[in-house]
Amino acid sequence: MNNNLWVIIAVILFVGCNNHQTKIVKETDTKTENNVTQEQKTWWKEGILYQIYPQSFKDTDGDGFGDFKGVIEKLDYVQSLGITMVWMNPFFDSPLVDNGYDVADYRAIHPRYGTMEDFEAMLDGFHKRDIKFVLDMVVNHSSNEHEWFKQSRSSRDNPYRDYYHWWPAEKGDPPYRYSLFDPEGAWEYDATTNAYYLHTFAKEQPDLNWENPKVRQEVYDIMKFWAEKGVDGFRMDAFQFASKDTTWPEFPKGHEKDFIKWYGMRPKLHEYLNEMYQEVIEKYDVFAVAEGAGSTFKDAHDLVDADRKELQMAYHFESVDMSRKPNSFELSEFKEVFTRWDSAFAKQGWIAIFLSNHDNARLINRFGNTSPEFRTPSTQLLNTFLLSMRGTPYTYYGDEIGMTNIDMPTLEEYVDVDAIGKYKTAVANGEDLQEFMSILNYSSRENGRTPMQWDTSDNAGFTKGKPWKRVNDNYTKINVAIQQDDPNSILNHFRQMTKVRKENPVLIYGDYAIIQKEHPSIYAYTRTLDNEKVLVVLNFSENKSDIKLSEIKKLEATIINNYNTVAVSEGNKITLMPYQAVIFKIN
Ligand code: GLC
Repeated sequence: MNNNLWVIIAVILFVGCNNHQTKIVKETDTKTENNVTQEQKTWWKEGILYQIYPQSFKDTDGDGFGDFKGVIEKLDYVQSLGITMVWMNPFFDSPLVDNGYDVADYRAIHPRYGTMEDFEAMLDGFHKRDIKFVLDMVVNHSSNEHEWFKQSRSSRDNPYRDYYHWWPAEKGDPPYRYSLFDPEGAWEYDATTNAYYLHTFAKEQPDLNWENPKVRQEVYDIMKFWAEKGVDGFRMDAFQFASKDTTWPEFPKGHEKDFIKWYGMRPKLHEYLNEMYQEVIEKYDVFAVAEGAGSTFKDAHDLVDADRKELQMAYHFESVDMSRKPNSFELSEFKEVFTRWDSAFAKQGWIAIFLSNHDNARLINRFGNTSPEFRTPSTQLLNTFLLSMRGTPYTYYGDEIGMTNIDMPTLEEYVDVDAIGKYKTAVANGEDLQEFMSILNYSSRENGRTPMQWDTSDNAGFTKGKPWKRVNDNYTKINVAIQQDDPNSILNHFRQMTKVRKENPVLIYGDYAIIQKEHPSIYAYTRTLDNEKVLVVLNFSENKSDIKLSEIKKLEATIINNYNTVAVSEGNKITLMPYQAVIFKIN
């Protein structure tokens, strides 16, 4: 039989197994059982977000870095995914010590990405396709090359001095403060004025002084500048650290892994966010999502409680704090974390759901199975999970085709300030460096930053020049072109899944309830909205697994399935193939 015939048969099977889809008409009532009122329904809750790391997406000028024109070239592809929002990592003018999370001018585009006209054309392209655009606001800190910092460090009486936090050296050494990127700590001595400045991240990323109302106004003006251009949302980078305890209590060594508890969510954060809401958010049809949600549910709730008028969405780190070491994935922990966070937001507030981003290794390496046999179904399973939970789903570029980690066993190839800082810390602490490197190789965020794999041409079709980062060798097998016309590919399953989510409000607003939470290999849960009810069953195992769901009255139809069939026998016993992921309509 020739290949075309196989494709036709596969398409028939694929469509066949999905033709039971039920279209749920959007409710017109004002109050539903689970307290979702019509007024509480918004585009950013109903949206599906796709994250683009611009330097790795598509290069058009051959310099080896992705650019806006490259994104413009791929707009139809992005739209074809069925996503409705894009968050793009920073592209502002920057010395790029932390790949753009060190901004030198918040109103200028780094030439590597193009011009402001290119940005506007890209934004227009998204909007024409009904895709909203979320800007990364990096305002806990700036670059040390920002004009504000240059002024601030120049003399103690410069009008910009209080734009940053300074500790005069005549007071002695500042109390030790932990830095996420710098093993030397968060205070850096600057001889020009004989004082130390604060940097929570790298020393090239001095923290802005949010206590200073002028700093806050500067930030709101920047946000308005971009809102006027038409951006639809702001992702507030590292924002839980913006408010500080300026009595500078000594950091208790040994609590490094727990630093959010010491530095996150200081009291004035709410005041700043409320002010930001009044100054910017409520004046435009925009939303703000913060990176980080504190360390307690109360913190998270306070941030997104609509009545408090602060943020609209937050994301917690527990979902990506799991599985940081090879072979450490535990389904029971995964279920527990997502169930606990869902329960915390069941009646009020809104969170983002994500399993990967530019700060993490690839999702399939951490939560799925990279072997050739299971790569496809396990990625499809993870995407089914992501797109069937409550909360706005965030998908990271490349995860829609199952891109994997890259192998980087020695330090020489690393360029990331975080990886290099951690290595220095490991050396200083006398850690076992071989073990350190093996964990870094698995968990480093550089794994998630390799060029997008478009096709089988040189450099995966990402660039005609030398890519800034090595393309993963597996690009000839994992790429968009190969998956494009294969109805059973990860890519087409992703597209199918975004469609399913958009057509079934129960997947957006419905209550979540876990079933048989002790099951060792299957994650099963229901989502319920008024009279609509669906069941999600996910087999996180490379073996067949079954689950008997006698508590469910009737399995009505398959809404989506990453295999052609699903075995259901007497008493709702469902037998799932390895990494099979199915959503049923039930009652
Ligand atoms: C956030 C970003 C990360 C960056 C850091 C400093 O955590 O996601 O990429 O390095 O902030 O801005």
